[in-house]
Amino acid sequence: MERKRLLTGDRPTGPLHLGHYVGSLQNRLKLQSEYETFIIIADVQALTDNYANPDKVRANVLEVYKDYYAVGLDFTKVHIFIQSLIPEIAELTIFFTNLVSHAEVLRNPTVKTEILEKDLTSRVPLGFVMYPVSQAADILFCKANLVPVGQDQAPMIEIAKDIALRFNKIYKTDIFPTPQALFGNVSRLVGTDGNAKMSKSLGNVINLNSTTEHVKKQVMSMYTDPTRIHTTDKGKVESNPVFIYHNIFNDNSAEVKDLEDRYREGKVGDKEVKEKLFLALEKFLNPIRDRRAIIEKKSPQELLADLIESTNYVRKIAKQTLIEVKEAMKINYEG
Ligand code: TRP
Repeated sequence: MERKRLLTGDRPTGPLHLGHYVGSLQNRLKLQSEYETFIIIADVQALTDNYANPDKVRANVLEVYKDYYAVGLDFTKVHIFIQSLIPEIAELTIFFTNLVSHAEVLRNPTVKTEILEKDLTSRVPLGFVMYPVSQAADILFCKANLVPVGQDQAPMIEIAKDIALRFNKIYKTDIFPTPQALFGNVSRLVGTDGNAKMSKSLGNVINLNSTTEHVKKQVMSMYTDPTRIHTTDKGKVESNPVFIYHNIFNDNSAEVKDLEDRYREGKVGDKEVKEKLFLALEKFLNPIRDRRAIIEKKSPQELLADLIESTNYVRKIAKQTLIEVKEAMKINYEG
C-alpha cells in the first residue's frame, strides 16, 4: 500500500525560529518516515505581501532550505520544492477561485489579522486576500492527507478541505482526499518579550541559526512575572515566558520542576532561571548548528541544483493531478 502524504511549508521571508519548530517542524521530523513528505518553499505566497522586495524572498529560499537540513529533515527522503517552479499550482489556484466566494476569503480570520499586522490596510493586494486559495492548491496538487502547521494556519486548512469537497462534488470525482491539519503541541509560542506574536521587527525571536551571543541576549532580557519585584516575592509560573520556554526546550524536567517550585515560593532569582534556560536552549540548538555547518559546505549553486532536482520530481506529480483535474472539468481538449 502507498504511504499517505504530508505537505507543509514556509514562506521564505526570513530564518526559521523556535516558533516554527514547535508549530510544525517538530511534527515534520516525527512523521517524515511514516508519511511521504512534501515541503513547499512558498516563494509565490511570500511575494503576495513582499512583491516589492524580490531580493528578500530570493535570498531566503536557500536560507530556509538550509534550516530544513539543519533541523534534521532527511534530504534523502523528503521532497522539498520551490512553489514558483511548479506552474501547475498557479493553474490549479485559478480553477479553485470559482469554488470559494468573495465573502469567504474576506472573512478569513488569519488574513484579516495579517492585513493589520503587515500594515496592508490602505492597499490590500488581491493576491494577498487570495493566498488561502493558492495554499489550498499547494496542499491539494499532491493530494496531501495531512498538513502539519501552527494554529494560525487553521483557517487555511479549512478552506482547503472545503475546496477539496466542493471540487469532488461539483465535478463528480474523488480526485482529492480531505486534508487534515496537524497542530504542534504548543498552540503558539510567545515571543521572548511575552508578546503573542513572534516577529523579527519586534526583536523577540530566537532563530534556529541564532548565535550563542544572540540567544544569551534574548534570554537574559526575557519577560518574566511583571508583578514580582524582589527575588523573595512569590512568583507566577503560568503564562511566564521563561517557564513556557523551559517547559518546551529544557529536557531536564526535574530541573524545571525544581525551578518552578522555588519560583513560586520566592526562593530563586530570575537570573538563575534564565541562565538555566540559556544552557538548555544551547543544548537544543547545538546539534542544529552542527548540521547547518555541514550543509553550508555546499555552494549556493550546488544547493540550488539539488533543490531544483527535487522540485522536478514533485512537478511530475503536479502534472499528473492537473491531467485528472482537467478531465473532471471537461477542459481536456487534447485527450
Ligand atoms: N502560509 C504558511 C505560513 O505562512 C506557508 C505555506 C504556504 C503553507 N503553503 C503552504 C503551509 C501549504 C502549509 C501548507 O507559514
